[in-house]
Amino acid sequence: MSDIKKIKDNFILKLKENLDLNQVNQIKTDLFGKTGLISSQFKMMGKVPEEERKKFASNLNLVKDELQNLITAKIDDIETKEINQKLEKEKIDITLPERPFVQGKIHPVSQVIDEISSIFSEIGFSVEEGPDVENEYNNFTALNTPDNHPARDMHDTFYLDDKKELLLRTHTSPVQIRTMLNDKPPFKIIAPGRTYRSDSDQTHTPMFHQVEGLHIDKDINMGHLKGCLNYFIKEFFEVNKIKMRFRPSHFPFTEPSAEVDIGYEIKDGKIVIGEGDKWLEVLGCGMVHPNVLKNVKVNPDEFQGYAFGIGIDRLAMLKYGINDLRAFFDCDYRWLNHFGFDPVDVPSNYRGLSR
Ligand code: DAH
Repeated sequence: MSDIKKIKDNFILKLKENLDLNQVNQIKTDLFGKTGLISSQFKMMGKVPEEERKKFASNLNLVKDELQNLITAKIDDIETKEINQKLEKEKIDITLPERPFVQGKIHPVSQVIDEISSIFSEIGFSVEEGPDVENEYNNFTALNTPDNHPARDMHDTFYLDDKKELLLRTHTSPVQIRTMLNDKPPFKIIAPGRTYRSDSDQTHTPMFHQVEGLHIDKDINMGHLKGCLNYFIKEFFEVNKIKMRFRPSHFPFTEPSAEVDIGYEIKDGKIVIGEGDKWLEVLGCGMVHPNVLKNVKVNPDEFQGYAFGIGIDRLAMLKYGINDLRAFFDCDYRWLNHFGFDPVDVPSNYRGLSR
């Protein structure tokens, strides 16, 4: 019997045995690997006398094809068996009750930040960010609040080192400085974010949120400031008319400075924004002090503008009827489920940015 026939018969028998995938792969190597039995036969072709060579070659090719087909069929067979066994073992019990579906809620502060960003972006403001850990210069000195200025004490600052060079920012105003140092005027930005002061009661938490606004260009005046804030308050509270008053105030970084109150009344135990004879303070603002502009290398004779700082948590409380600020940061899921916003089922009046 020829070698080829022996190989063929031998391996046909082997492939009939009960084999696993590794064993079949081993057979494949034994036959068709670099030094495999069939490969070796091909290498021997040259030594076969010329008159027999044609027959030898066609016979070898036939055997090669036959064995290859057998191996492929065997592998298919093994894989199908494995899948069937797996399916048999991994039956899904569709009578099991489903797992509870827990869906998160959007925190009212996040929602209000989105709403504010959306309203201001509609009138050309872009959003800037700054770090929570600030240096003393950006937080105070550059904002025209030198050492020993009484405003520094009023901020109840958390200092992070003995030299008082690093601190948790007490307001978002340092983002004004960062923005102006980084770029050239004009500037038209808002900067929402976390702020910190050592203070805690029903209306104060050590961490709270502000949004800073800054608009610097040629010929920007207090009229623009009033128009911008009036537009914002109306859009935010979704009212057509708003009673607003600008009370003279003092901030080191603005001159003149003002605090803004909005009118409200209590109707059926609920607060109604816009009308009424009561006043509620909502923000601080003013025309950016020339010293601040000089500190960031902007020429105050050429450029000027306004800035404002709004307490975000306060606005969220007013708009969504939440009366204790501390609850915002208690991480109580019952509270969040009640006051939070559904990320999928967005209320029809929701105007925040998509997230
Ligand atoms: N940074 C001030 C604060 O936290 C708020 C503020 C007032 C910001 C007036 C301003 C501004 O930009 O012009 O009390």
